[in-house]
Amino acid sequence: MRRDQILASVIDAIGGTPLVELSRITRHLDGRVLAKLDYLNPGFSKKDRIARQIIEDAEAEGTLKPGRTVVELTSGNTGTGLAIVCGIRGYPFVAVMSRGNSLERARMMSALGAEVVLVDQLSGSEPGRVSGGDLELVEQVTEKIVRERNAFRADQFRLRGNFRAHYLHTGPEILRQSRGQIDAFCDFVGTGGTFGGCAAAFKERNPGIQCFVVEPEGAAVLAGEPVRAPNHRIQGGGYAIPELEFVKPEYVDGYLKVSDGEAVHAARRLAKEEGIFAGFSSGANLAAALQLIQGPLKGKTLAIMICDSGLKYLSTELWI
Ligand SMILES: Cc1ncc(COP(=O)(O)O)c(C=O)c1O
Repeated sequence: MRRDQILASVIDAIGGTPLVELSRITRHLDGRVLAKLDYLNPGFSKKDRIARQIIEDAEAEGTLKPGRTVVELTSGNTGTGLAIVCGIRGYPFVAVMSRGNSLERARMMSALGAEVVLVDQLSGSEPGRVSGGDLELVEQVTEKIVRERNAFRADQFRLRGNFRAHYLHTGPEILRQSRGQIDAFCDFVGTGGTFGGCAAAFKERNPGIQCFVVEPEGAAVLAGEPVRAPNHRIQGGGYAIPELEFVKPEYVDGYLKVSDGEAVHAARRLAKEEGIFAGFSSGANLAAALQLIQGPLKGKTLAIMICDSGLKYLSTELWI
């Protein structure tokens, strides 16, 4: 984002977020953690980036013609980004979301002009804990709406725009801002678009930058473990999908696990000690980074994403 000129729309304000060293949290540790403040995007999450890229790519490819309806399954953040981008570009947008995600997200998408369809969770699932099974239900409803309305599915699990947003922008921004001085990156994975896109950009520039997949404890399927606790609290990812299009084995130097409690504790530390008000998954990223600099990557510099704003979780136990 250019900050020294008038922008044509808020779409141009997506990306170009600051990179901040968490020097208070790492004060007594040997190592650095650099946090990419993507909660400062217009929709308060990193997913604005992929919304813009997916829509721009579809327009360029001719799959998205003026006035066509756009539909996507979302945990709220991609939907918010799409609501912003589609609203400005003139596409009706339908967001399909599990009722297990926080209410703030649905309200925000509606406010931005989206039609929000909420899908009940499986019996036995708890609010605030969206499982892979819950997500399958949301997928079925999403596909039905796409068929009925002959809509364009802004499919974040499959469309390259998700990967490209981070490969073309997030990763190179981190490299530029840190002058290439990072040793490692760890990222809590949902679709894997952020992990894959950033890892590809990092390894292209410097194959020595190590990239770690972060998963919830009890649902670490990418690490090859069985699912013991599908209903974790770390909203936005950890869906226990064993194969992800954008997470290529050649990008992965290791796997890390974070518990609900560790993610919550780290998100609270980000707020209290660094003044960074973020959500559960940002806490998961910080907790994983701290595991690394207190373990195998002692003395190294790590980059992490601050994925979304803590304001999206005011109704959850994160801030109680
Ligand atoms: C808050 C939050 N954290 C993490 C993720 C995971 O990011 P990715 O889908 O790029 O793996 C998402 C994705 O929706 C998210 O909304």
